[in-house]
Amino acid sequence: MDSKPTQGSAPGKVILFGEHAVVYGRPAIAVPVIQVEATANVQPAPAGSGLTIVAADLDERVALSDAPLDEPLALAARLTLERLSAPEPDATLTITSTIPIASGLGSGAAVSTALIRALARFLDHELKPADLSALVFEVEKIHHGTPSGLDNTVVAHAQPVYFVREETMDRLALGAPLTLLIADSGLPSPTGEIVAHVRQKRESEPAHYDALFDQIGEVTNEARQSMEEGDVDTVGMLMDQNHELLIDLDVSSNELDDLVETARFAGALGAKLSGAGRGGNVVALVEDELAEEAGQALSEAGAKTLIRTQVAAAS
Ligand code: PMV
Repeated sequence: MDSKPTQGSAPGKVILFGEHAVVYGRPAIAVPVIQVEATANVQPAPAGSGLTIVAADLDERVALSDAPLDEPLALAARLTLERLSAPEPDATLTITSTIPIASGLGSGAAVSTALIRALARFLDHELKPADLSALVFEVEKIHHGTPSGLDNTVVAHAQPVYFVREETMDRLALGAPLTLLIADSGLPSPTGEIVAHVRQKRESEPAHYDALFDQIGEVTNEARQSMEEGDVDTVGMLMDQNHELLIDLDVSSNELDDLVETARFAGALGAKLSGAGRGGNVVALVEDELAEEAGQALSEAGAKTLIRTQVAAAS
């Protein structure tokens, strides 16, 4: 086989609407965050050495032949080889990432996507985003049991998406660009635990929780329309509404509510927690002129890191 070095990368992501409700079949909207990314490089290695995966930032080195079945990097590589009916190549695959881990920015999905993309290229295959997404979904199950599939979908397509579990994946064509500030509370956001908490609450109060999921679904559908029409003010207002509904779901925290309030007070058009909640990130929609000021206010209010990103309008 002609083995030349190859590379693959994938962006982070942020959920704008519909987290949690998406687990129960309601729609969600998420967008890529291109300021952060995971990258995988594959280099040929001497014959007989097999595949070694190096997670440079974590100081981890995994030989595919003796990695446990549930080791996520090895699983991503195995699924790729299986999908392409390819034998294990002699190569070293090195992963690096600038995406903060476990903070709701899709770090796990991006690392898997970059790895699978780079390894497939090393084997002379260019996987389609939908195929990539399906493989990454299998790896995501290790991270948090019953993922909706939203993370792998937005990260593998690297496009704004409107997503309904096992049903719909529409690329969103924005009528106007959106400038977003993503502020990390610095608190943990253990997705699996929080999803399990919501499941328990729903079991004890099904009618109440299903009504909340329905309302979140309606907000998400209105948001889709406003995003496509370029009605940025309405998108902001709907983010505020989505945050209130997430408070009702019991997945917010004082720290997240404070950051959301701070962003609004500094002139954001809307703000909400993003991802599983409790900790992790809030996302604020701002006008360009106010982005600097709002960012400063968020940092002063305790945001540990701040990412400013723009989601482009359709050309
Ligand atoms: O915390 P994150 O960004 O991985 O997002 C979790 C989103 C949930 O809707 C809560 C779970 C899911 O699988 O979609």
